Amino acid sequence: MKKIIIAIDGYSACGKSTTAKRVAEELGYAYIDSGAMYRAVTLYFLDNHVSITNLKEVERALEKINIHFENISGANTTFLNGANVEKQIRKMNVSNHVSEVSTLAVVRHAMVAQQRAMGKRKGVVMDGRDIGTVVFPDAELKVFMTAEMGIRAGRRQLELLEKGQALNLDEIRENLEKRDHIDATREESPLRKADDAVILDTSGITLEEQVQQVVALAKEKMMENA
Ligand code: CDP
Ligand code: CDP
Repeated sequence: MKKIIIAIDGYSACGKSTTAKRVAEELGYAYIDSGAMYRAVTLYFLDNHVSITNLKEVERALEKINIHFENISGANTTFLNGANVEKQIRKMNVSNHVSEVSTLAVVRHAMVAQQRAMGKRKGVVMDGRDIGTVVFPDAELKVFMTAEMGIRAGRRQLELLEKGQALNLDEIRENLEKRDHIDATREESPLRKADDAVILDTSGITLEEQVQQVVALAKEKMMENA
């Protein structure tokens, strides 16, 4: 069957990356976590005291950033300039700054160019905020995920706890709300549903159900494009 591109966009902590990864495994596709790339850039900016109001400084820093992914024991792992930063990029300090960094057009242009190169041969599932609208506007399947805020915050709390970070529910909720607001209102490629995206509300369904729904949609699209 012909390989397609699957774009999964939506709000924070709706289940995009977990679903995208599982769908990619089922279809034998590559999974690309575009959010991890923005998080890695943010980590670099924080560690190197890059001021996001100084465009020249941001441009110079971007030239020094190299991001790649590796599969380590089945887990998609993010590398920044050769170092495994998977754990660090999920920390609250990065979560609290990533959306501001992601408003910068120069940052977005650099990330989008890399993401398009990664999807050149198709057979990819990519999740983020602008995948169906900007990165791959011609993606054969676009899914827009939503879920109720209370459910999202609870799921993120559990996810972080499983990774050894115990965080207060209010702090998580505040971060998700703030990021959703910045992501949806920024000037450069704001988070919005593509006209041809299928809405998937994950509030009342299991992870397995949402994976199977996306796989079924993907198979339909593969047949149409065969
Ligand atoms: O997994 P979570 O929902 O916490 O976020 P993420 O996918 O890791 O993305 C972190 C942040 O990166 C988002 O809140 C956006 O500010 C930014 N992002 C973006 O602007 N465009 C993307 N394609 C992906 C992420
Ligand atoms: O990528 P995004 O920020 O949209 O969300 P995620 O990090 O994939 O999902 C947040 C957490 O919700 C993960 O621990 C998932 O396993 C969990 N979850 C889910 O995605 N869907 C459900 N129906 C139930 C739980």
